[in-house]
Amino acid sequence: MSRAAVLTGLGTYVPPRVVTNDELSRTMDTSDEWIRSRTGITRRHWAEPGTATGDLAVEAGERALKSAGSGDADLVVLATTTPDHPCPATAPDVAARLGLDAVAAYDIGAVCSGFIYAMASAAGAIAAGIAERALVIGAETYSTILNPEDRTTSVIFGDGAGAVVLRAGDPAEPGALLGHDLGSDGSLKDLIIVPAGGSRRPSAAADASGARPAETYFHMEGKPVFRHAVTRMAASSRAMLDRAGWDPESVDRFVGHQANVRILHAVADQLGMARDRTVVNLDRVGNTSAASIPLALADAVAGGLLTPGDRVLLSAFGGGVTWGSTALVWPEIVAD
Ligand code: COA
Repeated sequence: MSRAAVLTGLGTYVPPRVVTNDELSRTMDTSDEWIRSRTGITRRHWAEPGTATGDLAVEAGERALKSAGSGDADLVVLATTTPDHPCPATAPDVAARLGLDAVAAYDIGAVCSGFIYAMASAAGAIAAGIAERALVIGAETYSTILNPEDRTTSVIFGDGAGAVVLRAGDPAEPGALLGHDLGSDGSLKDLIIVPAGGSRRPSAAADASGARPAETYFHMEGKPVFRHAVTRMAASSRAMLDRAGWDPESVDRFVGHQANVRILHAVADQLGMARDRTVVNLDRVGNTSAASIPLALADAVAGGLLTPGDRVLLSAFGGGVTWGSTALVWPEIVAD
């Protein structure tokens, strides 16, 4: 019989510093009213300078392992857009700091779709018998790549980390991932990009004033990204629902990537799903990219919106561009 990856633990961490829309409007030409009405975001968390993505990942990973009732894992997959270093990957260091000795550990780069990609990768390793118990983490410190001069991106993104533990189990049990739909369109890579710092354009030198060059910052074309996010998340969600054999109306909770509440509602509308099935926590954390889905899951559990037996659809869209979806029946777990 085939082996499934079964969700058995969930943990999250956000850095303590809260940045409100009002605080941002004191340093850039924006307003609480604009940010709230165009995105749904009211505040986000930003790490203090010196805190790296791996630091947040360790906190979330520890909590997920505790939630799963065992500190053990034989695979760590870390999704991030903001690794601690260009080389090496962040996952091995996180694994070591969690006391996971000699385990397989690697990073996944699929920007805001990263967590769905990481879950699919870990589920594949479990199905193939490569791993028994995987720690899947999405962690970001976007505050380190946001251009303080760019109001179109600085108001949107937040820092945070979320993690799940997937164990080998039976496809029919609650918590089993019911398959994955993944895709990409690299012809749209320039829509979401950090232009410099990679092999195509190694880090640019600071200018005469010592200021950080603009091309080392995150850049996003908001309008086309919005359009593609709606279309691709809706299509991917439909493909996933077909695979699971579920009607859109039978989905209890839609946990989509938390980029913009207008995107989430548009996707629900396209799927013919009631908007109140959509989990929204971006108002309090902003867009946390690869950490977004697990942070939304934990928020829904804490708020009583996600209970054992619920049919849950997860879907994301991100830079690359990339997209992906998965689905599961929510298991009995105690999130930490
Ligand atoms: N504060 C005030 N005004 C702002 C602003 C801000 N923070 N950011 C942009 N504006 C201005 C623009 O300059 C523009 O002014 P203009 O009309 O004088 O040119 C106006 O507001 C409208 O800008 P626009 O970019 O058309 O707004 P929008 O309705 O498309 O919303 C986003 C912008 C970024 C919120 C929206 O496009 C979005 O959410 N995109 C998808 C983001 C996303 O999903 N990212 C992650 C996917 S992985």
